[in-house]
Amino acid sequence: MISHQPLQKADFGAIYDQPDPRAYFLTLEPYDYVIAQHGADLFSRLLQARGPTDVRRQRILDVCCSYGVVATLMKTGLDVAALTEHYRTAAAQDLTREQLIEADRRLLQEASVPGRADVIGLDVAANAVDYARATGALDAGVIENLEVDPPSAELVALMSDVDLITTTGGVGYVTEPTFDRLLDVAHEGVWVASFCLRTYDYDPVINTLEKHGLTTERLSQTFPQRRFTGPAEEKWALDRVRKNGADPTGKEATGYYHAEFYLSRPACEVERLPLAQLLPERSEFSMSDL
Ligand SMILES: C[S@@+](CC[C@H](N)C(=O)[O-])C[C@H]1O[C@@H](n2cnc3c(N)ncnc32)[C@H](O)[C@@H]1O
Repeated sequence: MISHQPLQKADFGAIYDQPDPRAYFLTLEPYDYVIAQHGADLFSRLLQARGPTDVRRQRILDVCCSYGVVATLMKTGLDVAALTEHYRTAAAQDLTREQLIEADRRLLQEASVPGRADVIGLDVAANAVDYARATGALDAGVIENLEVDPPSAELVALMSDVDLITTTGGVGYVTEPTFDRLLDVAHEGVWVASFCLRTYDYDPVINTLEKHGLTTERLSQTFPQRRFTGPAEEKWALDRVRKNGADPTGKEATGYYHAEFYLSRPACEVERLPLAQLLPERSEFSMSDL
C-alpha cells in the first residue's frame, strides 16, 4: 500500500480513503507513526491552558482529520499503540465495516475522558470522514479541498464557534490557501496549532496568518513523526532539512522525520503569555518515549 518513488517522500495515499481505518493503522505501524499522539497531547494541553468557554464545549477544527485519529486520541486518552491493537484485533476477526463502527462507538463511549472538546474534521478523503462521523469520533465533518475551493456554507457556519484549528501530518498537503480561507471565516481569537515536518517550509503559512492578525511562535523541541521507509526517503529528507538550513544531527539522522510545533494567536495574547509559559517544555523526546 506504499508507493516508493526515487528520492521523495513515500506516498501513503492508498490508505487515506479506505472504508475503515484498519489499513491506515496497520500499514503505518512498522514506521512508528506517532505524530497524531504528540498532537493529541499538546492540543489537550492547549485547550486546558485556554480555559473553558462559559456556554459550550470547546471546539476544534482538525484539518486533514483522516479517520478522526486525533479526535479519538483526545476523546479517549488512549494512545496510538492501543488503537493499533484495537484495529489489529478487528482485522483478525474480519469484522464488517458496520461491526467495526459499532466497536469504535463503544470504545469512544467506554474510554471517554471528561471535559472533552467537540471536534470538527476537514479532509478530502470522503470515506475517512464518513467513517469518523459514523463512530462519533467527529462531531461534524466536511469533505472539502480548501487548496482549490472556498469553504462551503456548512463549513462557514461551523467555523463561527471554532476555538482551535489543528493539524498533524497535514502541512505539505495543505498550504497557505487552506489557512487563508479558514481564517477568512474564523472568529477573532481563534488559535492555530500545527505540526510541520522540517522537510517543509512553514514560513508562507506564518505570513498568511500574520495578515489575519495572528503571531506565530514555535517550540524549540521537535517531535518525531515516523520512521523513514528506507534509505531513499532518508536521503531525500536529510537533503531537504539541510536545504531548509536545519541540522539533522540527533533528529532526522536517527532515522525519523521530525516535526516542529507552531502556535499562532492574536498578538496581544502572545505578549501577555508567551508560548514558553503557556506550554512549559518537557524534556526532549528520546526514542524510548515512542
Ligand atoms: C498523513 S495523513 C494525516 C492524518 C491525521 N491527521 C494523522 O495525523 O493521523 C494526511 C491526511 O491529509 C489529507 N489531505 C490531503 N490533501 C488534503 C487537502 N487538500 N485538504 C484536506 N486534507 C487533505 C489526506 O486525505 C490524509 O487524510
